[in-house]
Amino acid sequence: MTGVPETHANSRVLAFYRELPFNYRESAKAHAQEIRRINAISAVYPVLTPLLGTGSSLLDVGCGAGWFCLNAAYHHGCVVTGIDFNDIAVNRAQRVAQALGVKATLETADLFLFRPTGQFDIVASMGVLHHTDDCHAAVRWICQEFVKPGGHVVVSLYHRHGRRPLLDHFAQMRADGKTEDDMLEEYRRLHPRPDAVYLRSWFRDQVLHPHETQHTLGELLPILEACGMSVVATTINQFAPFDDISEILALEPALEKLGAERLQGGQYYPGVFVFLARKIG
Ligand SMILES: C[S@@+](CC[C@H](N)C(=O)[O-])C[C@H]1O[C@@H](n2cnc3c(N)ncnc32)[C@H](O)[C@@H]1O
Repeated sequence: MTGVPETHANSRVLAFYRELPFNYRESAKAHAQEIRRINAISAVYPVLTPLLGTGSSLLDVGCGAGWFCLNAAYHHGCVVTGIDFNDIAVNRAQRVAQALGVKATLETADLFLFRPTGQFDIVASMGVLHHTDDCHAAVRWICQEFVKPGGHVVVSLYHRHGRRPLLDHFAQMRADGKTEDDMLEEYRRLHPRPDAVYLRSWFRDQVLHPHETQHTLGELLPILEACGMSVVATTINQFAPFDDISEILALEPALEKLGAERLQGGQYYPGVFVFLARKIG
C-alpha cells in the first residue's frame, strides 16, 4: 500500500468514506448478485461495450466497492485493476471479486501515488476526481500516466450547471432547519433504494459530502487536448455522434434547467456528466 498524502481534501474525504464507502451494499454476496444480474456498464454506458474486449486491460481509479471494474471482469473478461485510497472499500471489492469468482488486482492506493508497471487500454474513474484537491491535475495525471496510446479514458464528474439544482434543493432544506433524517427521507423519495445500507451510502455521498467540486467539459478540454486526448462521446448529448465539440459545449448551460425540471417532476438528477476520450495512438 502507498501512503495517503494528508491534503485538505484527502483527510476529510478518506475519513468520510471510511465511515461508509459509496455504493456499499449490505453484503459482498448481495453486491456480487447484483453484478451477476445486470451488466450495468453496457446498460448505462453502451458506448463502452465495443471497447471492453476479452483481455483488454482496465484500470478503475477510485474503484470503491468495485462495481465498475468487477462488472468489466465478470461480463466482458477484461483484465482489471482497481485502486482506491479507502482500505475498507478495497477490502469489500476483494470479497465481491471472490464471490463472483473473478480475478482482479485490487489495491489500496492514492491515485496520485499509484505507479503501475504499464499503461492500460481503458482507464475509468467514476465520480472520484471531483473529490480530490485538484480535479484538473487529477484528470491530467490519469490521462498522461495511465492511458496507453490508442487507449481510452472514461470519467464521470459533477457538472457545474447540472449539479446546481440538487445542491440548492438540499441547501434550502438545511436553511429551513430540516434534520438529516428529513433529508434522508427526501432523498429516498427522489431515489428509492431497497437496501438500507446502499440507500444511506448514496444519500451521504450526494447530500452530506465534505468536499466536492463541479466542472464543465469546456473547462477540461484544453487539459485533455494537451494530453493528446480527443473526446469521442459524452452524456451531455446522450452519447450521440457529433461533428464538432463546440456543438457539445453549447449544450452545457442548459443542464441546469434540465436538472431543475427533473427535480420538480420528483425525479433524481445528480448532475453528473461522463466523457469518453481516446488517446492518439
Ligand atoms: C463517489 S465514490 C466512487 C466510487 C466508485 N468509483 C463507484 O462508482 O462506486 C469516490 C471514491 O473515490 C475514492 N477516492 C477519493 N480520492 C481518492 C484518491 N486521492 N485516491 C484514490 N481514491 C480516492 C474514495 O475513497 C471513494 O471510494
